[in-house]
Amino acid sequence: MEKEMVIVLDFGGQYNQLIARRVRECNVYCEVMPCNTPLEKVKELNPKGIIFTGGPANVYAEAAPSCDKEIFCLGIPVLGICYGAQLMMQLLGGKVGQAPVREYGRTEIMVDSSAQLFKEVSDKTICWMSHTNYIVELAEGFEVIAHSDSCPIAALQNVDRNLYAVQFHPEVVHTPEGSKMLNNFLLEICNCSASWRMDSFVETSVAGLREKIGDKKVLCALSGGVDSSVAAVMISKAVGKQLTCIFVDHGLLRKNEGDEVEQIFTTQFDVNFIRVNAQQRFYDKLAGVSDPETKRKIIGEEFIRVFEEEAKRIGTVDYLVQGTIYPDIIESGLGDSAVIKSHHNVGGLPDYVDFKEIIEPLRLLFKDEVRKAGLELGIPKKLVFRQPFPGPGLAIRIIGDITPEKVAILQDADYIYREEIANAGLDREIGQYFAVLTNLKSVGVMGDERTYDYTVALRAVTTSDFMTAEFAELPWDLLGRISNRIVNEVKHVNRICYDITGKPPATIEFE
Ligand code: XMP
Repeated sequence: MEKEMVIVLDFGGQYNQLIARRVRECNVYCEVMPCNTPLEKVKELNPKGIIFTGGPANVYAEAAPSCDKEIFCLGIPVLGICYGAQLMMQLLGGKVGQAPVREYGRTEIMVDSSAQLFKEVSDKTICWMSHTNYIVELAEGFEVIAHSDSCPIAALQNVDRNLYAVQFHPEVVHTPEGSKMLNNFLLEICNCSASWRMDSFVETSVAGLREKIGDKKVLCALSGGVDSSVAAVMISKAVGKQLTCIFVDHGLLRKNEGDEVEQIFTTQFDVNFIRVNAQQRFYDKLAGVSDPETKRKIIGEEFIRVFEEEAKRIGTVDYLVQGTIYPDIIESGLGDSAVIKSHHNVGGLPDYVDFKEIIEPLRLLFKDEVRKAGLELGIPKKLVFRQPFPGPGLAIRIIGDITPEKVAILQDADYIYREEIANAGLDREIGQYFAVLTNLKSVGVMGDERTYDYTVALRAVTTSDFMTAEFAELPWDLLGRISNRIVNEVKHVNRICYDITGKPPATIEFE
């Protein structure tokens, strides 16, 4: 059966992958491609529909991104969004101009619900606008199908040519009926069968990887995190033992994590699994170091050295697997933003490993989609729903210098915290939560004895993108239970604090 797909042509808007994700949520396979993708390539892919994204440019600007006008003559339905709508009009003879009022944010629009795009959408609906320019004059053959008080042409169509466009953003959650509109475009207008599922993604990816890799060798730096695990299992399903996973245990993992990863990969999947127990090596390098950035650098560099040494034993490999997911691509694309912390991803790119090409099987997916793929691949829930965990691990959750004793204290406290959060059924609701070993010692009293021990800080945040976060409002009784258990069960801890700062001004991690 020919693969049914929709293409999202990227004009530089910030919501491009979100559009792709919404399309996939409608069970239609979709890929984002650059706006200058040659027409021949588009024809070859034979998509059921094409979506033009928004973008920051002005369609009349000299270097404004554009596309081949012939794309409108292929008979394939096109939906232009924001900039994409304006571009469609400009290319087809309409006019775009500066709006008297810049529209930004939630806006009420009146739609013609007899238009297919708005089937079952309320006559008056809320949408998310974000534009300074708007369409002033329609191209020939088009008609208006939605307007707002200050935007006379908020949506338009030319049914005969199968061309549709909206000035607003149906892909964002602030357009509550946006998914319905996209669904209408995909199912009613493009006639997609909506038969795509995450298992098809997994199946197609595995088949594609098998074909690409052939009989070649693949190497993976496994961190035990969700992304690298899903990427590794996907490759292992494709080529089995041609894959070698190197798992560096730097001694800064959560309690039992190293053993769990080893157990899963050696008993459930068909790969060559190498665990490098480099704990002491990392502790030695870190001894006496308390500056956070220096700790990160040491761990990042040491990780690469250990990985290289192991990789050398294996010899030349053809491919190196990376668990890059879509948000990583956006983040690394933010070239101008200030470096707050140098994010060393364990599993990041080593400098001197001998490989020919990188494979990133998850580069199009969002985190929750990666998790779905992980479940499809049979990875245990425990690993699939694991909390995000920084590459430098517990080293940046122990303020000040690191010793194996401190690591053990933190592992035990953190374990109890996570166990209680899970028992309370909150583990999937909180974006990230963990314990921190502060460098603070204070006086306490236990069984009539004076103590002088550590303070453990508990952190729990809700966040959608980890760029900003709010502290989670955990129930007092739960906090009380966690506090009790930690001070009773973990030696050398006599005080528990709960962090009630958001990000900004704090960061999620303490270092
Ligand atoms: P911050 O502390 O910057 O954390 O607010 C934001 C998110 O990034 C994670 N984080 C890291 N992840 N390597 C990583 O792979 C790192 O060095 C690192 N530092 C922070 C943090 O856990 C949170 O999810």
